[in-house]
Order: sequence, then structure tokens, then C-alpha cells
Amino acid sequence: MNRIALITGASSGIGAAVARALAGRWRLVLVARRKDRLDALVDEIHRDGGDAVALPADLATDPQGIAERAAAIWQGLDAIVNNAGLFATSGSDALTAEHLDQLWRINLRAPMLLTAAAIPYMRARHGGSIVNVSSVAADTAFSGCGAYAATKAALEAWSRVLREELRRDRIRVSVVAPGATDTGIWPAGFNPPIDRMCRAADIAAAIRFILEQPASASIDRMVITPPGGAL
Ligand SMILES: NC(=O)c1ccc[n+]([C@@H]2O[C@H](COP(=O)([O-])OP(=O)(O)OC[C@H]3O[C@@H](n4cnc5c(N)ncnc54)[C@H](OP(=O)(O)O)[C@@H]3O)[C@@H](O)[C@H]2O)c1
Repeated sequence: MNRIALITGASSGIGAAVARALAGRWRLVLVARRKDRLDALVDEIHRDGGDAVALPADLATDPQGIAERAAAIWQGLDAIVNNAGLFATSGSDALTAEHLDQLWRINLRAPMLLTAAAIPYMRARHGGSIVNVSSVAADTAFSGCGAYAATKAALEAWSRVLREELRRDRIRVSVVAPGATDTGIWPAGFNPPIDRMCRAADIAAAIRFILEQPASASIDRMVITPPGGAL
């Protein structure tokens, strides 16, 4: 249990499921705003014999500082799961600056700045993995999801560039694009029926698979969708 992973958005949904999937195999730093939820998850992981530390923080403000504090906890970083995200809807004729800014800050600005600050720690360990959690919305049109889709498409465009920039450092960059998944992210009335959604644990298992590939393989993009379709 030597490798160290930073997971953002670990207080619920997919991020909490990733923490459970990696627990006991990785040392974990768990980031989100809701401290009570992070603390409860850390207690659960400790009870099961794993290593995890809660790092309560708001990714809207100082993502670089969060990366620095995370790297100091276990003296390094081997993996980042940029999972924290917001979903909100608006027709394109009703867009507001507030809607755009809040989605952009968490879904794009935060992972880009956090990763920038974390790269030197991965270089110091001669390798690492970055998993950016996108969405099928990055390349599928859903009415009302223009701003959200734009943040995820931009996240994927940046991920492609990052992958090329970091190859010589043996830092792998992967994108995971979930389809509809049963978490609390859905606005009331917007979510598909539960039997037409993936489970957070399904997405987490894919992320663990990506992180635990041998050094000779990189999974560049993985799409996971509910077999029956969401609609
Ligand atoms: N569920 C789906 O159908 C689906 C489909 C495609 C992609 N995704 C993507 O999957 C990722 C995880 O979403 P989820 O479905 O698991 O939803 P979720 O349960 O709402 O999780 C979102 C996480 O992001 C964290 N977060 C939000 N704003 C934050 C901030 N300012 N600072 C720090 N943490 C913040 C939340 O923690 P706090 O509130 O405690 O801060 C929470 O842990 C997102 O990137 C989402 O776009 C989800």
C-alpha cells in the first residue's frame, strides 16, 4: 500500500465509490467541501484497515493550494482522480454569467490548476496517473446541457494535450466518460429511472482498472453507459 492517490469530490457519488474501490490498495487523500461526509468515509476506510486522510476544501478557490497540501500529507502523489463536478441545466437562450462561471470553475478550472500544481510531485516519483472524469455529454447532445457539455468537452481537449505533454515523464492521462449514473448530482425531476442508470461503483471499478494497469499500457478514454440506455 505504497501508492498515493488524491481523489476530488470524494464526499459522495462516484468519488466516494472510487475511494472505497482503492481503499486498502492505495493511501488516499480525499477532497470535498463536506467535512462530515469525508470524516465518516475516512473512519470506514480505517476500520477496514486502509489509509485515508480527509482534506476538506473548496475547489472553487485555490486548487493549487489543495494540491500542495495533499502532497504534503503522505510526502508525494502517484495519482489524481479529478472527479469533483457540478451539473446544472439551462437553455442556451437563458444562460447567465453565474451559471457559466460556476460550472467552469469546478468542472474545468479546478482540475487544470490542481493538476498543474501536482505534476512536479509526480515527476519526482518518475511517473503517475491522472484520471479526468468527463461525461458522455462531452460528445452527445442533450437539450439544456450546453454549458455543462462545453466544460466536459474542454476537459477532454485539455486531457489530450496533457497526455502528450506528460508522456516523457511516464505520467498517464486517462478520461472516463460515464453515462447516466445513480448519484445525487441530478436536479430533481431530471434523473432517468434507476434501472436505466449505472451505479457509482461501476464507474469506480473502471477507474481502479485504469489506475492499476501495468506500466506498459495507458487507457486513454473509457466510456461507461447503462446497457438499457438512459432515456
Ligand atoms: N452521475 C452522473 O450521471 C454522471 C454522468 C457523467 C459524468 N458525471 C461526472 O461525475 C463526477 C462526479 O459526480 P457524481 O455524479 O458523483 O455527483 P455528486 O455525488 O454530486 O458528486 C460531486 C462531488 O463534487 C464535489 N464538489 C462539488 N463542488 C465542489 C467544490 N466547490 N469543492 C470541492 N468539491 C466539490 C462534491 O463534494 P462537496 O459538495 O462535499 O464539496 C461531491 O463530492 C462529476 O464530474 C460529474 O460531472 C456524473
